[in-house]
Amino acid sequence: MQIAIDGPAGAGKSTIARAAAHKCGMIYVDTGAVYRAVAYALRQLGTDIHDEAAVRAALSGIKPGLAFSDGEQRVYVNGEDVTDFIRTPENSLATSCISAYPSVRAFLLETQRKIARENDVIMDGRDIGTVVLPDADVKIFLTASPECRARRRYAELAAKGEDITYEQTLAEMIQRDRDDTERAASPLRKADDAVLLDTSDMDLEQSVRAVEALISGGRK
Ligand code: DC
Repeated sequence: MQIAIDGPAGAGKSTIARAAAHKCGMIYVDTGAVYRAVAYALRQLGTDIHDEAAVRAALSGIKPGLAFSDGEQRVYVNGEDVTDFIRTPENSLATSCISAYPSVRAFLLETQRKIARENDVIMDGRDIGTVVLPDADVKIFLTASPECRARRRYAELAAKGEDITYEQTLAEMIQRDRDDTERAASPLRKADDAVLLDTSDMDLEQSVRAVEALISGGRK
């Protein structure tokens, strides 16, 4: 069983997909974490992330990997668990930048498909329904207004003690939306056969119920 959930940053994909996966006994795969891990590794290596040729050359030294324990995903680079370092605002912007490169997308395509071949998955990302799993059993495009997404993300970052304002969070959200939708390689877009779910006026529980209903309905 393959469930594809795509949508913009901060739409609640990971929280909703994780909860739905738990209830449906499936593995939740957060593909954004893999892109984030690659961006983190490139920054650690001192690679100029704005130089696509330099990024492409550095990829051969980066071996990303995923592991699941009690349904929780951990992401690795060259055997090191980097899960706790990849969600800073700087790394988020760097990830948007490198995920626009066709070389990076091609590099991570087989990693994602292999996990979906070997497990029942709910996989979230930007191009899961359009590129990674075009034959997924259910495709959902999860979205919410930019202000609503920025409010949720700001609350998350503030709770972690990140030094950031709501205005900065909204500006970064809009920048990432632009990067994700305007890139030439696998831009963020709803697959023709995906169901659109706007969670602006839903709380978490309502959103999870809506996703579960789509999964059990087996609709595309
Ligand atoms: O889902 P996220 O916010 O953790 O994703 C981080 C970045 O990775 C986001 O800017 C877009 C990119 N990404 C992507 O291009 N394709 C995916 N399948 C997942 C994430």
